[in-house]
Amino acid sequence: MGMLPWLLAFSILGLQAWDTPTIVSRKEWGARPLACRALLTLPVAYIITDQLPGMQCQEQSICSQTLRGLQSHSVYTIGWCDVAYNFLVGDDGRVYEGVGWNIQGLHTQGYNNISLGIAFFGSKIGSSPSPAALSAAEGLISYAIQKGHLSPRYIQPLLLKEETCLDPQHPVMPRKVCPNIIKRSAWEARETHCPKMNLPAKYVIIIHTAGTSCTVSTDCQTVVRNIQSFHMDTRDFCDIGYHFLVGQDGGVYEGVGWHIQGSHTYGFNDIALGIAFIGYFV
Ligand SMILES: *[C@@H]1O[C@H](CO)[C@@H](O)[C@H](O)[C@H]1NC(C)=O
Repeated sequence: MGMLPWLLAFSILGLQAWDTPTIVSRKEWGARPLACRALLTLPVAYIITDQLPGMQCQEQSICSQTLRGLQSHSVYTIGWCDVAYNFLVGDDGRVYEGVGWNIQGLHTQGYNNISLGIAFFGSKIGSSPSPAALSAAEGLISYAIQKGHLSPRYIQPLLLKEETCLDPQHPVMPRKVCPNIIKRSAWEARETHCPKMNLPAKYVIIIHTAGTSCTVSTDCQTVVRNIQSFHMDTRDFCDIGYHFLVGQDGGVYEGVGWHIQGSHTYGFNDIALGIAFIGYFV
């Protein structure tokens, strides 16, 4: 869930040949019959990964038992047609068949008919699955590409499922669930009253600030403050033009944030979030 560093591990995958992954079939883990009917149109363009905390399992018999429990819960408690994912990956390095290659999962609203959903059993949110699980997932993805289930140019969107990331009402949220967002109050933003943004945005536009870079947080805060002044005083924008700014220190600096319209791309400001890398990158 969320913007986790290990997601990046998948983007370095080439097209090297992988062995067929060990997939524990539904029959092998003792699944109830599959009642889902909605088919995927192949190849799909997206991979969605998720983590299922508190479901640790190190061996096939335990993982199978856990999965049977998850299936019962999904069907009888939630009322879904099956488990939500196309595949699940155990810390034992095995891949377990969920609804499989051809059926739509129920993992991510808006993406179910265009993606394969893969869940890691047991890994704590904010920490990586085991190396064995990661390598099993990589193998599964390569195999999916080879077999035409997944587009070779697939996208793995960084979905921010936790709405609470900027919400001070939830101080107990584990820090790592959320990206490291440095709030406006921390960089001493000027207060403004600007038009609201309609969410969800249709696009995200990634740009650069075309100016000074920064590698430590105190410098980045100064740079962001200067950009806000420049945008408001010289460019006549309502506030800093970007929704978020990303420093070379790895920090994400809240610009106007999620709910206010930015001024980053003429013609797109009402439908796009603008995220800028702080610095000059051409
Ligand atoms: C997926 O579902 C959405 C919303 O129901 C629909 O607009 C879209 O055409 C579907 N895409 C595919 C590939 O079936």
